[in-house]
Amino acid sequence: MITTEHSGTITAEMPIAVHKKMDVFYNPIMASNRNLSILLLNSVSNTKMNIALPLAGSGIRAIRFLQELQQGKINHLFVNDIKDNFLTTFAENMDLNPKITPAMKKKVTLGNEDASLFLVNQVTNNHKPDRFCGFFDYIDLDPFGSPNPFLSAAIARISRNGIIAVTATDTAALTGTYPAVTKRKYWARTVRNYMMHEIGLRILIRKIQLQGVQFDRALIPILSYHKDHYFRIYFRCIKSKEKSDQVLKQHQYLLCNPKTLEFEISDFNFKKGCDYFGPLWTGRLFDHTLITTMARENPFPEEQKWLDLLKEEAKVDLPGFYDLHVLAKKYKTEPPRMEKILSTLNAVRTHFSLYGIKTEKNIKDVSTVLLS
Ligand SMILES: C[S@@+](CC[C@H](N)C(=O)[O-])C[C@H]1O[C@@H](n2cnc3c(N)ncnc32)[C@H](O)[C@@H]1O
Repeated sequence: MITTEHSGTITAEMPIAVHKKMDVFYNPIMASNRNLSILLLNSVSNTKMNIALPLAGSGIRAIRFLQELQQGKINHLFVNDIKDNFLTTFAENMDLNPKITPAMKKKVTLGNEDASLFLVNQVTNNHKPDRFCGFFDYIDLDPFGSPNPFLSAAIARISRNGIIAVTATDTAALTGTYPAVTKRKYWARTVRNYMMHEIGLRILIRKIQLQGVQFDRALIPILSYHKDHYFRIYFRCIKSKEKSDQVLKQHQYLLCNPKTLEFEISDFNFKKGCDYFGPLWTGRLFDHTLITTMARENPFPEEQKWLDLLKEEAKVDLPGFYDLHVLAKKYKTEPPRMEKILSTLNAVRTHFSLYGIKTEKNIKDVSTVLLS
């Protein structure tokens, strides 16, 4: 079936339910994920990038990158997928897009192997493109489920100041459905509660950062969010021992008192009366300047509300939030009007929950406003 997503036209299977055993296919729900990757790359100052899409699927992201990234952004595009029909499908799909000129096609190297092998093998490729020395300026890990199998190769092959984008769709593992899996795959503890998506995102960030610091690579989140059924994080990779140490200092615990709903960050995983989550990343989720630029320059109307929400949230970029409905239930009162509470507490909305607010104020201040 022929499908068009912004500039890109492809022919691919469009399944009712997505599963690992299918041939390469097109998933329309991830259009937003692709839109934001294009917007982000057009919003950062990097140019002449060597870009790797090692889990390319139908290739729609690659086809859109070729047409929608600003001129001068791409030095070379490396596109790979392990599925048997990938090379033929991708070649056919490129031909469906007349704006992709022969010169642009020359900028593409294709692969049909395991993603990690593809990333590391390019360094010994005898036909290396100009201005490519084996390190990528952008690597997009967009797997089914956990990104874990591909992290080592991506971190080994990312350039200084490069960007790694990671999607994780194994949300059950990160939100406490299977605590043993969370521990085994992500080396942390969580449970299902109203903060589970933020906790899951921060646990995932820390897990990925740990893979980087062992090689003195500090992975600094510049855009991180949870949407639909997936987590998505963009990291700027900085080669620095000091920055790596600073990253580790921000791996802490979130302590929550289930009786009062008070929460705090701690280096320790114990406080009387509290439950603990983590270890997790307690630093920033957003680069404020970047999200402001993205919200301003956005060419995708369907993403504007989302970008404005993230831009607002980035103003109070702190771990943890209060959920007005959860609080109201606990304090046996009616949920207050969102607008009132935002202005009184100098708070912002959060994308993690429809009724969530982020504020520097403590539970005493919040409950006072709630009960007034
Ligand atoms: C979620 S899809 C990718 C979607 C695509 N990135 C996009 O934006 O439309 C995940 C892809 O990873 C591929 N894949 C799974 N394991 C792989 C591996 N070890 N090496 C390379 N590709 C793999 C699958 O064939 C599938 O097409």
